[in-house]
Amino acid sequence: MDVDSDAEIVEALSYARQHRWPVTVLGGGSNSVLAQDLAGLVICVGTRGIDVTGERVVAAAGEPWDKLVRQTIAAGLSGLENLTLIPGLVGAAPIQNIGAYGVELAAMVETVHAIDMDTGQALVLSNSDCQFGYRDSIFKQALRQRVIITRVCLRLNRDFSPQLDYADLQRWQVLQAPENITAEQVSRAVAEIRQKKLPDPAVIGNAGSFFKNPQIDADHWRQLQQDFPGLPAREQADGSWKLSAAWLIDSLGLKGLKVGDAAVSDQHALVLVNSGKATGQDILVLARQVQQQVMNRFNLPLEIEPVVVA
Ligand code: EPU
Repeated sequence: MDVDSDAEIVEALSYARQHRWPVTVLGGGSNSVLAQDLAGLVICVGTRGIDVTGERVVAAAGEPWDKLVRQTIAAGLSGLENLTLIPGLVGAAPIQNIGAYGVELAAMVETVHAIDMDTGQALVLSNSDCQFGYRDSIFKQALRQRVIITRVCLRLNRDFSPQLDYADLQRWQVLQAPENITAEQVSRAVAEIRQKKLPDPAVIGNAGSFFKNPQIDADHWRQLQQDFPGLPAREQADGSWKLSAAWLIDSLGLKGLKVGDAAVSDQHALVLVNSGKATGQDILVLARQVQQQVMNRFNLPLEIEPVVVA
């Protein structure tokens, strides 16, 4: 069921409660894996509206994420340019704390507005209430399937300070005249990099990165580095190291590995694609095979990144 206003969301929830139907909420569906057919009521939030006041932006959950990025850049605001072309809707963005090219949404969130699915009450969560982590938040944990996000309030910047430390953007930066480094230019560069690197979900079904990059402590990293020279890793603010899961999978020669129509993308090893009629189960069986092989060779667990809806 498509709902276009907060009142319709509350009405849909109350209808489902009366009929004792389970409720599932889907945004664009681009970061969800359906493990089975869904029973009960599926709510698709289609609320619209992007409101810019000074550096504050309030965006309705049903707005496409990339439209918000483009609209804020056009309004002279920066902050979202590194998050260009991420598929999906605004309401899904805080759930997995979307991130790319060294920037995470969490850095810009002031509040997230939601509706409690049991009571129909409106809730406002502050940034710290959201418990943001790497591709993680309270919406994937304690509030999973308990609230429907209706609006996201962000604080962006009028003064542009580019975040270009990610290797792909460093390579781009050296080719630019300094006056070319505007939020708009960075956004274009990110779009180009993504288009080259990642399979387009509009062409071949995929949920972006299927696994999180494993995070390990410095001692563990020193030891792995000796065993596997060439394994890319980035040091984190807390002294831990984030390893490239794509490299782990690629080095095992798993690109192209298939279960039915589900496959490890030939283009990017961290992406699982549906090349035809793969079911959610095919994808999950393939994911388990990848996890097993990475565990056998590197003794590292790979955590699934998209939301598995069962
Ligand atoms: N690599 C390979 N084989 C491949 C692809 C990549 O060995 O097939 C190696 C390369 O050495 C590369 C390294 O992996 O330098 C890292 O690859 P990439 O820059 O593509 O980044 P990633 O760590 O695989 C993460 C995010 C992406 C985000 C990019 C850019 C996660 C789980 N994924 O990918 O996010 O776009 O960085 O910041 O953190 C998503 O969440 O869906 C997503 C696409």
